[in-house]
Amino acid sequence: MDIKKVVIIGSGTMGSGIAAHLCNANVPVTLLDLTTDISTKAREKILKSRPPLLIDKSKIDNIKVGNINDDFDVVKEADWIVEAVVERIDIKHNIYKKIFEFRKQGAIVSSNTSSIPIKVLSEKLADEEKKDFCITHFFNPVRYMGLLEIVKNENNDLDKINSLKIFCERELGKGAIICNDTPGFLGNRIGVFAMQVAMTEAFKLKLSIEEADAVFGRPMGIPKTGVFGLYDLIGIDLMSDVLKSFVKELSKNDPFQNVAKEIPLVTKLIQTGYTGRKGKGGFYRMNKENNQKILEAINLETGKYFPTKKIDLGIDTVNLNLLINRKDKYGEYAWSVISKIIKYASSLVPDITNRFNDIDEAMRLGFNWAMGPFEMLKSIGVKNFFGRIENFENNNFLKNLEKTKNENFYGERQLYTSIETLGKIKPKAIKLDKNKSADIYRFKDFNIVEFTTKACALDYDSMDALKNATDKPLIIINESMQFSAGVNLTYTMNFADKGDFKSIEKFIKYFQDTCKHLKYSDHPVISAPSGLVLGGGEEVAIQSNFVVSHTNIVMGLVETGVGLVPAGGGCKEVLHRWSQTKEAKNDPDYAPLKVFNIIGYATTATSTVEAEPLKFLRPEDKKVMNRNSLFEVSKKLIQEQSNFKPPEECKFNLTGKVVKEKMIKILEKLYNDKVIFDHGFEVGKELANVLSGGDTTVDKVLNDDDMYKLELESFMKLIQTKKTQDRIKHTLATGKPLVN
Ligand code: NAI
Repeated sequence: MDIKKVVIIGSGTMGSGIAAHLCNANVPVTLLDLTTDISTKAREKILKSRPPLLIDKSKIDNIKVGNINDDFDVVKEADWIVEAVVERIDIKHNIYKKIFEFRKQGAIVSSNTSSIPIKVLSEKLADEEKKDFCITHFFNPVRYMGLLEIVKNENNDLDKINSLKIFCERELGKGAIICNDTPGFLGNRIGVFAMQVAMTEAFKLKLSIEEADAVFGRPMGIPKTGVFGLYDLIGIDLMSDVLKSFVKELSKNDPFQNVAKEIPLVTKLIQTGYTGRKGKGGFYRMNKENNQKILEAINLETGKYFPTKKIDLGIDTVNLNLLINRKDKYGEYAWSVISKIIKYASSLVPDITNRFNDIDEAMRLGFNWAMGPFEMLKSIGVKNFFGRIENFENNNFLKNLEKTKNENFYGERQLYTSIETLGKIKPKAIKLDKNKSADIYRFKDFNIVEFTTKACALDYDSMDALKNATDKPLIIINESMQFSAGVNLTYTMNFADKGDFKSIEKFIKYFQDTCKHLKYSDHPVISAPSGLVLGGGEEVAIQSNFVVSHTNIVMGLVETGVGLVPAGGGCKEVLHRWSQTKEAKNDPDYAPLKVFNIIGYATTATSTVEAEPLKFLRPEDKKVMNRNSLFEVSKKLIQEQSNFKPPEECKFNLTGKVVKEKMIKILEKLYNDKVIFDHGFEVGKELANVLSGGDTTVDKVLNDDDMYKLELESFMKLIQTKKTQDRIKHTLATGKPLVN
C-alpha cells in the first residue's frame, strides 16, 4: 500500500503536529477543521512552535488547509485519513460517517484517540469499513516523540496494518508498535500507572516532591522531570481527565483503580488554576520576589510552597540495586515503586500484548525511560527480585518465572522492528573495553563506541575510549537520548577550583589529539548523532570522516555562552569548511568573518536542514528520519569503505591583523549597543584571535596543528578568568547562560 496523500481532520495540538511531521517526511497533507480560519491559524502556530515541529520551515506551504464543509472532497484522493478531533465519541462518529462516504476504496482511516477503544469508535461502521479502520496513537510533540501505537482488533486487515506500520517506521521515523485494543494501550497504561504509584507512594512515605523526583528520575533511568515535574509538564488538569477515563474503562478490580483515586491536594491545585507549567504553576512554581525568580516546591502535607531543596542521592548512573538496597526512605520508596510497576506490567501479559518486550520499548519510546519494567526486573536479577517480592497472585508471568528462576528470561530486544538497531546489536557484540565514561564494542570487523555519562558529557575517559577504538573502522553512536552535550563542565571546573590549570590543558590537548586522530587515522570513523550535539560533541562529530545524523538534532558550537572558545578543533574545522567556498576563494576574510558570527553568537541548528547552511553538516552527510536506523545506515557506509583514504590535512591562508581588526569593529558595535558586556568583548577578542590565524599574514600557510594551538591558547586564557568561571558555575547551577 502506497501512502502518497494524507488528510487530517482536526487541526489542534495533535492534528497540526501530525501534519507538520508528514510535511517533514515530504508527504502532501491537508488539514481540515470546522473552519478554514481555525486550520489556517493552526498552520501559523506550527511555524512558531518551540521546539520547532517542522524540520524545514520553508516547506510550510506543503501543508494545505481547509474546512470540513467546503473542502471535504480532498478525502476522495487520500490514501490515509487521520481523525484528530476532540475526544468526543458523538463528534468522532459523525466524522467517520462522512469520511467513509467520501474515501476511496481501501484508504486507511485512523483515529488519534488516547482513550476510546476501537470497538466503540467503529461500532457504527460496516464490516468492510472496519477492516480499514484502526487507531494511530501519536504522542505530543509528534516530531520528537519516538512512539507510535497502532491499535488493531480482530476486524482488521492485518496486511494493511502492517504496511501502515512500515510506512510510519520508514517514512515518518516512528517506533511503531502494534498493540491490542485495551484501555490506554501500552505506553499510557504502564506510564500513567507508574506516575500514579510514584505519586501515591510519595504521599504514603512522606517524601517531599523533590525527594520523590530525585529517586523516580535519573537513578531509575527515568527523565529528570521525575513524577511531579512531569505532572506539571503534562498539565495537572489533563492528567486528571486521563485518570477519570482509566477509572471508567478499567475493571473494578484492576490495581490501577487503587492509585487513580482523587487526591484532595491535586483537586485543589486544579480548582485554583495551578494546572502546571501552562497555568500559575503546579507542584513546582516560579515565584518572583524582589525581582528574583525562585523555584518553589509544594509541601504535600500543608499545600504551602517553599524554595526547592536540591537532593543529592550520590548516584550518578542508573543502578537499581544500589537504589533499592539503601537502608533509608529513598531505598524503601524506590523498591516500593519499582516492584509495583513490575508487578502491574507483568500482570497485563498477554492481555495488552503477548510480547512483554513491547511494553519495555513503549516505555523507552513514549516516556524516554532508559529501561522498561521487564528490563528493570532483569537488572535487579530474578533471584534477587523473588527474594524480596511478597504476593503476586493472579500473575501468571511472575508465577512461571518464579518456577524457572531463569535469569536469562529476557531474550532479544526491540522485537517490534526489523531494523538492525544498536539496541539489538549490543548484546551480540563483544565488549572490548569500558571505562567510567564510555563502552567499546567490537561487532563484525568494526568497533562501536557508546558514551555512557550523563547527557554523554565528554571527559578524558571519553577521549581515551575513542582513541583506543580506532584500530578498526569505528562508529560513535549512543542509545541514550543525546549524542553529547559537550565537554563535562563539572569535570573542568573541579580542576579550575583547585587552580589545577595544567590538568585542564592536558585534557584539552588530549581532546585535540583524539579528534585529529579520528579524522586522519587509517580507518573510517563515523559519528551517528541524535539529540544534543553541542560544543565538544559537535567537534567529535565534524572531525569524524562521515556523519549519519538523525534529523532531530540540536547542533552548535556554544562555548562562547560559557565564556570559552571551541578548542577541540571546532573553530578550525568549521573555518576550513567555509574556506572551501567560492566566496572564500575571492576574499580571504570571507570565511573567518562568517565563522566569527556563527560561533560568536553560539548559533545552534535544530535540525539537519538548519545544520547544513552553517556547514556543521555537509551535503554528503546522511540524514535519517528514524533514529533506530542510525546504526544500520552507518554499518552500510562502513561496508562501502574498502578503499578508504583519510582526508588531506587542512591548510589556511589567513590575514591575521587585517581580519582581526574587522572583527574587533564588530565587537565594538555590539558593545556600544549593549548586546555584549565586558567579558563578552574579551571572549570575542579571543575568538577573533583564533579565527584570524593570530600573528600571521595571508601568504603564510597554517595547518591543523597551528589552529589547534591557537584554540588551546585562547581557551586556557579564558578558563583562568573569574568571569568565565562565573559563567560556567551559573550555567551548571541554572542551565542558563550568564551575560557578564
Ligand atoms: P485539540 O482540542 O487541541 O484539537 C481538536 C481540534 O478538533 C480543534 O481544532 C477543533 O476545532 C477540532 N474539531 C472539533 N470538532 C470538529 C469537527 N467536527 N470537525 C473538524 N474539526 C473539529 O485536541 P488534541 O489535543 O489535538 O486531541 C485530538 C485527539 O488526539 C483527541 O482524540 C485526543 O484524545 C488525542 N490525543 C491527544 C494528545 C495530546 O497530548 N493532546 C496525545 C495523544 C492523543
